[in-house]
Amino acid sequence: MIIRPRRLRRTPTIREMVRETTLSVKDFIFPLFVKYGDDEKDPIPSMPGQYQFSVDSIVKETEEIWSLGIPAIILFGLPDKKDAVGSRSYAEDGVVQRAISAIKDRIPEIVVMTDVCLCEYTDHGHCGVIKDNMVDNDATLEILTRQAVSHARAGADFVAPSDMMDGRVAAIRKGLDENNFHDTGILSYAVKYASAFYGPFREAADSAPQFGDRSGYQMDPPNALEAIKEALLDMEEGADMIMVKPALSYLDIVRRVREECLLPLAAYNVSGEYAMVKAAEQNGWIDGTRVMMEVLFSIKRAGADLILTYFAKDAARILNSKVR
Ligand code: PBG
Repeated sequence: MIIRPRRLRRTPTIREMVRETTLSVKDFIFPLFVKYGDDEKDPIPSMPGQYQFSVDSIVKETEEIWSLGIPAIILFGLPDKKDAVGSRSYAEDGVVQRAISAIKDRIPEIVVMTDVCLCEYTDHGHCGVIKDNMVDNDATLEILTRQAVSHARAGADFVAPSDMMDGRVAAIRKGLDENNFHDTGILSYAVKYASAFYGPFREAADSAPQFGDRSGYQMDPPNALEAIKEALLDMEEGADMIMVKPALSYLDIVRRVREECLLPLAAYNVSGEYAMVKAAEQNGWIDGTRVMMEVLFSIKRAGADLILTYFAKDAARILNSKVR
């Protein structure tokens, strides 16, 4: 007798019934870049379909994202000026702070998350302040905390520190609580590798380091135990959700962190992962839509609860069209 697994693959409806992994628009967090200006929407060449938005146009974009059923966005800012300590990162009239309140005014229910990091705001492009040619951990914590509190004040639901300084989750939690933002959550980029997959993002956010690289603070790609250590540390420090980043070359890490850690787990399907699919699609080498869905399912199957992805709108359209 032959055992016949193919019976469960015979029709689309049967396949749907026995599908082990679900993907929903509710899993998505859409990353958006905001800049100064009026009615602007500048294409990002290395990320086809993605834009830098001015505050007014990001509100329109967010309305569309919300109408597709996507529950959350995460904001990255392009400041008007950069300096050595990233002081525009915590300005009350900063571009992210303005965008948060404009979006919350229009769509109060959408979950607004913000990237907390200095690399977009420093003239040297590092994620913290420099002392003796190194990023100074503890001096950076103070500025990150001010940035996080300013985002909370503008109405952010979650702040998402991506700087990889030690102790930043505890410092930010303390700062938020001292300012009575007990309900503002922290999505920590707990496990963030020093990855070349961030290349297109650094063009989009104008945040490439002007000297050296980020290996002194972001994680070494061959490490896995360290990922669990970082995740557990951030949980102890008070993170509400944690993240693994990038996603695709680190799906083993997503799985291991999912098993070791009790918090909701996000994975960041980063700019380089997006750009590779888009470039191959534009060359006619792959079916970009099918690859996109396969990528997103793989991240869910690995164990992520949430996915930060530039594909969110395209994938939402496909998922929404499947409702009978
Ligand atoms: C740092 C930050 C980076 C990304 C998100 N937050 C870049 C970096 O660490 O150099 C990368 C996201 C992506 O590649 O899509 N603020």
